[in-house]
Amino acid sequence: MSLNSPLIEIRDLHFTYEGQATPTLFVPEFTVDSGEELFLFGPSGSGKTTLLEIISGVLAPQSGCLRILGQDLTKMTPAQRDAFRAEHVGYVFQSFNLIPYLSVYENIELPIRLSAVRKQRLGTVDVDMVIRAICGNLGISDLLDKNVTQISVGQQQRVAVARALLGKPQLLLCDEPTSALDTDHREKFLRLLFELAELYETTVVFVSHDRNIEKLFSRSLSMNTINKATS
Ligand SMILES: Nc1ncnc2c1ncn2[C@@H]1O[C@H](COP(=O)(O)OP(=O)(O)OP(=O)(O)O)[C@@H](O)[C@H]1O
Ligand SMILES: [Mg+2]
Repeated sequence: MSLNSPLIEIRDLHFTYEGQATPTLFVPEFTVDSGEELFLFGPSGSGKTTLLEIISGVLAPQSGCLRILGQDLTKMTPAQRDAFRAEHVGYVFQSFNLIPYLSVYENIELPIRLSAVRKQRLGTVDVDMVIRAICGNLGISDLLDKNVTQISVGQQQRVAVARALLGKPQLLLCDEPTSALDTDHREKFLRLLFELAELYETTVVFVSHDRNIEKLFSRSLSMNTINKATS
């Protein structure tokens, strides 16, 4: 990737869910530079999750330009997009998607079990030490042996972030759950998240319906200004 090209580059992108008559997304232009902490806000149904799923290669657009880290996702097969995501993208899902039959520790360890590249990025350091350090930073060290069904929603969010950041992905996508934490806890959580993202040189795109936390980010954008689909 050339130094000047954006980390995320979208142009004239159309996405329509199968069986739908009208597109959910039409994005004439959307770019994110490396190192940004971007806040994307919009009401329920405005396409936030759909956009994150396209950026991460879970969904594929019908047309348009979609380049992430200089790579053209529209030219990849679904398997190649899965590998790309495993290597480069940390994703905190709206519903966290923690694996219920695994412990907190095992959930956090997953990305480096799934991607050799993510594991290599940790270098020669001991994986167990890295996991314990991240969890120390996020205040979840005491939970490592617990089952993920036995911890609070706020704790699940931190586990999901630890999992997403393990192996230093270049891009972290966060889909905030609608049942958000109270404002004090969210601010504290976000400051921690940004500290870790800066340490790992990870670019953050965070979507939410609630503008209360907008001021904490380096840039904010409304879904209205990027999604021109009329439905
Ligand atoms: N699998 C699907 N099939 C068809 N339509 C869908 C599907 N998933 C979402 N949609 C529709 O696409 C639009 C955008 O949904 P999306 O989930 O991206 O919104 P959102 O901004 O994330 O909303 P929320 O804040 O409630 O999470 C909505 O109109 C939704 O009904
Ligand atoms: Mg959503």
